[in-house]
Amino acid sequence: MTNLLEAKGINFAYPSVRVLTDVDITVQANESHVIIGPNGAGKTTLFKVLSGEMFPQSGTVHYSGENVTGLDAWQRVHRGIGRTFQVARLFADQTVLNNAILALECRERIAGTPQGRWWRLRPAPELVDEAMARLESYGLAARAQDRAAVLSHGDKKRLELLLTLSLHPKLIMLDEPTAGMAPDDRRAVVEMINRLRAEEGLTLLLTEHDMEVVFDLATRLTVLNHGQIIASGDPAEVRRDPMVHEIYFGKRGGHA
Ligand SMILES: Nc1ncnc2c1ncn2[C@@H]1O[C@H](COP(=O)(O)OP(=O)(O)OP(=O)(O)O)[C@@H](O)[C@H]1O
Ligand SMILES: [Mg+2]
Repeated sequence: MTNLLEAKGINFAYPSVRVLTDVDITVQANESHVIIGPNGAGKTTLFKVLSGEMFPQSGTVHYSGENVTGLDAWQRVHRGIGRTFQVARLFADQTVLNNAILALECRERIAGTPQGRWWRLRPAPELVDEAMARLESYGLAARAQDRAAVLSHGDKKRLELLLTLSLHPKLIMLDEPTAGMAPDDRRAVVEMINRLRAEEGLTLLLTEHDMEVVFDLATRLTVLNHGQIIASGDPAEVRRDPMVHEIYFGKRGGHA
């Protein structure tokens, strides 16, 4: 198995609080690696460090064999790391269609083939067609002319995923992709994520609190507790680990 992402010895502290302690984590090509852990364990912080939004005080991050520890988030995006956020990040005042077009324009720029017409002028008709087709396939076509800000929570998350995938990442990091969703939306997201892995060969790193979703998605499970990894491996085995059971699935865990 090839390690697509490999982080070693990651230590991270905010000025007033130590968050990650000696974290080692690998993500293998085409796996669906889910990180679980109680609130405040450091999952989102770890995502920020891996995606280049923040830099660790010590430790290294390699992606596809390249040391990317010092690279900014946009440079990692160019290399194929996509990411969604715990709270969806969209161009809130733009229409849903413009959001989709903007993402495609970014993809063209990253690929070095900009169409020469930035969105403020007039987007290339083929990009408008492609954006509409993508909105269709995500069930968002009817909302094309609405501002992104007025979408429901589930639709915002779907649009954010569409934008991330428009950039053709190899690895996508999804921070709580089903948080706050109704059961039907949740199932749809699980189905879509499993399809991305099986049919498009994507690699996924996720955090998730819903245990049903976790075990529907995970091919590997890592447990983070107080900023330290306490177990990692086959999901069923991790679930049986007595320490994990005590800390996360036991009476004190709160999520299972
Ligand atoms: N900007 C910040 N400044 C200071 N402390 C922060 C900051 N962001 C997060 N923290 C603290 O870092 C710790 C880890 O937070 P983080 O958001 O990474 O946890 P998490 O595992 O993602 O939690 P959740 O499951 O609630 O999303 C917490 O104690 C949190 O209060
Ligand atoms: Mg979080």
